[in-house]
Amino acid sequence: MRVLVIGSGAREHALCWALRHSSQLSALYCAPGNGGIAALAECVALNPLDTAICADWAARNAIDLTIVGPEDPLANGIVDAFQARGLAIFGPTAAAARIESSKAWAKQLMTQAGVPTARAERFDDHTTALAYLEQREQAVLAHGKGCYPLVIKADGLVAGKGVVIAHDGQEARAALRGFLQEHTLGEAGATILIEDFLQGVELSLFTLTDGSHVLPLAPACDYKRVYDGDKGPNTGGMGAYSPPRFATHALLEEIERRILRPTVAALAQAGAPFRGLLYAGLMITQDGPYVLEYNARFGDPETQVVLPRLRSDLLALCDAVAHGRLDEAPALEWSNEVTCGVVLASAGYPGSYEKGLPITGLDTLDDGVLAFHAGTRLEADGRLVTSGGRVLTVVASGATMAEARAKAYANVERIHFDGAHWRTDIAARELT
Ligand code: AMP
Ligand code: GLY
Repeated sequence: MRVLVIGSGAREHALCWALRHSSQLSALYCAPGNGGIAALAECVALNPLDTAICADWAARNAIDLTIVGPEDPLANGIVDAFQARGLAIFGPTAAAARIESSKAWAKQLMTQAGVPTARAERFDDHTTALAYLEQREQAVLAHGKGCYPLVIKADGLVAGKGVVIAHDGQEARAALRGFLQEHTLGEAGATILIEDFLQGVELSLFTLTDGSHVLPLAPACDYKRVYDGDKGPNTGGMGAYSPPRFATHALLEEIERRILRPTVAALAQAGAPFRGLLYAGLMITQDGPYVLEYNARFGDPETQVVLPRLRSDLLALCDAVAHGRLDEAPALEWSNEVTCGVVLASAGYPGSYEKGLPITGLDTLDDGVLAFHAGTRLEADGRLVTSGGRVLTVVASGATMAEARAKAYANVERIHFDGAHWRTDIAARELT
């Protein structure tokens, strides 16, 4: 099969790496790709948001299957554009991708389907939102306990910048003002949710689905904050590991039964059957699992730790999903080894950062250690330089998490670029 991957991050590098293991693969392209992906796939200079141009290119180049990484092209209707031309593509239509691109729509869908998720109210007007906040504050005053923290979420896609955990009335009011009066996030923040805060431990669970069948992948934990101990601002993700010990067979079964299956059924019933990868961001609370958010695509950096453990043929699975015959796919096989992935980021990330800094040391990594590239660029003279905030995800596997983790960090230390920073506590909780 001739395959095109859409995207340019470490997630897409991991997808290309896994697809390369398929006996069915005859040619691999990636649009636009990056400095690391170039070693596995032919990089094509297409803008994933130009969905019609991508579809034209795929038709002209006899692509048998396209696999979409990021959310923006999905929300932009890349799947619709390909399907209109009769091209096979892995990913949801824009209508189904609303489960990620509109948090208000997703919340309504989950609530109607009885899927456990935090209670939330939707607002698009500052005065009404403020009145609701005051009502919440008054109600709990009467009970003698506070209503904070509360979570204030922008409805639309803003690359992880749309969630504010407000610890008091001042922070909550500042968030409402920012989203609804000052329009700091533009249209994406013109509708908001005020949501109850959930306490627990976070889990990422991906499931393949063809719109009716579900096939969950191995669970993973993601670290979203920039600094150790979950301090500092949110990022795209600073590291991940798979599988977490607390994700027992019984818990995963409960998530499939109470959350994944009802959500997939509700999407189909809403006239937006979901084909592709549905990513549940979950909070495991004392009362069981709750959905924090859904994403309509593979997670980054979870993909970088999940795919190296997959022994089944990723291409065959994606093809089965794209053609609506996931029920014919064999049971998934997983390695017994566990994985730990650490993200190396540019100085300043998630704020502004410099680009074009030389990266060295990648040729000194241990056998079997994977370095998935995100913000890297290969210069004409063959030098690899930084070109983004998150630069690399270094992934090691081992018989135990202690071993995988030690190996990942030993290899991270061998990679250099000016100002490189990373969290030192990825998977640390698994050691205690
Ligand atoms: P989201 O983009 O909705 O996943 O939110 C980003 C992060 O905010 C999540 O990974 C959680 O750490 C946190 N978060 C979101 N919603 C809640 C909630 N209802 N309770 C507690 N934390 C939340
Ligand atoms: N790991 C978070 C995300 O992919 O959105």
